Amino acid sequence: MPMKILIKNIKGLAGAYEESPLFIRGNSMENLPMIENAYLAIENGVIADYGKMDDLSGITDWRNLEIIDADGRFVLPSWVDSHTHLVFAGTRELEFEDRIKGMSYEDIAKRGGGILNSAAKLAYMSEDELFERARPRIEKVINDGTGAIEIKSGYGLSTDAELKMLRVIKRLQKEYPIRIKSTFLGAHALPKEYAGRKSDYVELIIKEMIPQVAAENLADYVDVFCEDGYFDLKDTLAIVDAGLDHGMKSKIHVNQFNALGAIPALVERGVVSVDHLEVLGEGDVEALASSNSIATALPLCSLFLSIPYTPAVDLMSQDAVVALATDFNPGSAPSSNMTLAVSLACIKMKMTPNQAINAATINGAAAMEISETHGSIAPGKVANVIITEKCEHLSYLPYSFGSPAIDGVILNGEIIRVFE
Ligand code: NIG
Ligand code: FE
Repeated sequence: MPMKILIKNIKGLAGAYEESPLFIRGNSMENLPMIENAYLAIENGVIADYGKMDDLSGITDWRNLEIIDADGRFVLPSWVDSHTHLVFAGTRELEFEDRIKGMSYEDIAKRGGGILNSAAKLAYMSEDELFERARPRIEKVINDGTGAIEIKSGYGLSTDAELKMLRVIKRLQKEYPIRIKSTFLGAHALPKEYAGRKSDYVELIIKEMIPQVAAENLADYVDVFCEDGYFDLKDTLAIVDAGLDHGMKSKIHVNQFNALGAIPALVERGVVSVDHLEVLGEGDVEALASSNSIATALPLCSLFLSIPYTPAVDLMSQDAVVALATDFNPGSAPSSNMTLAVSLACIKMKMTPNQAINAATINGAAAMEISETHGSIAPGKVANVIITEKCEHLSYLPYSFGSPAIDGVILNGEIIRVFE
């Protein structure tokens, strides 16, 4: 019998709509619908009904029904983490120590560490081993209340190793109930063998890697690290265009350390998202304000590298669509904790809890082009929800930073964990 779940006595049901928008722009992000003293009914993996406890009439068949008494807890849509590098071979805590002692992320990259360190670790690892290492990470992601995730390649930097990473992502998609989108990031760094021959590597990406990725249907998106010392605007646009030629849109790492003026050109090409944006230049915010490309902030990376935080308040006040993601990766953000990212967005970026929750749910879903099914609570949408600890206000969730106040997680209508 398919499981039916009724969550009753919900203190506040957040992010519920009869028909939800696909994303929320600018200052409207302050609006997070909230139904007090609510119930939520789930059936066959999707949201069946919701409403006020007083109107609990949607349930007609009480057989095979699992009842959760939320008893003063809030319910909200699960997090959508639209930017991660969850598949990697090994951790990089020695670089963390070097940074504590004074080296910068750039210094470490220049001596062959950073992304190239991760690529060296991954080069000879078997696909099976890489998959086994990714398993506990995705299991933790699910347990922590993330209901959909994007995962990038980018630690391969050769055709074989990039395809190996993407196959691991494909296996995760098959094995786990969480919605996963996959992004090809061959242009993450210039491999050592191509030193001084960047254009040859870009050509390899365009002529060999992207066609193979597309032929095997291994990625939904293409990504580039558009940054000084990595790939410039011309390289980036050529790769974005090659992706488009093969039916893949882009999500681009841009403006992390330097404003290269790439955002207007990327937005013009209809990229799904531009991610990082710690440093913005002239014309960048305006370009985002008049487009549907999502501006994705990654506060865990800002914290971990001690770099500026994305100016989300400016972006919102000028009408951009802002999302939040973890950037989970072994170098610049070794944490997959979306709840902490939401807390940091409030504490350091001055987003309100409502804005940050919208950024981490519905707008994150838009940054993965899955907001028709994920990121909000509406009849027929995938039943991915978080149940908070007992609390007076939903803002308790970002407030209790560092120890997520989450008592229950439901994914595709299945209970992952719930309080006793
Ligand atoms: O998003 N900035 C580029 N890529 C990753 C970091 C990758 C790494 O250091 O391994 C990021 O921060
Ligand atoms: Fe990243």
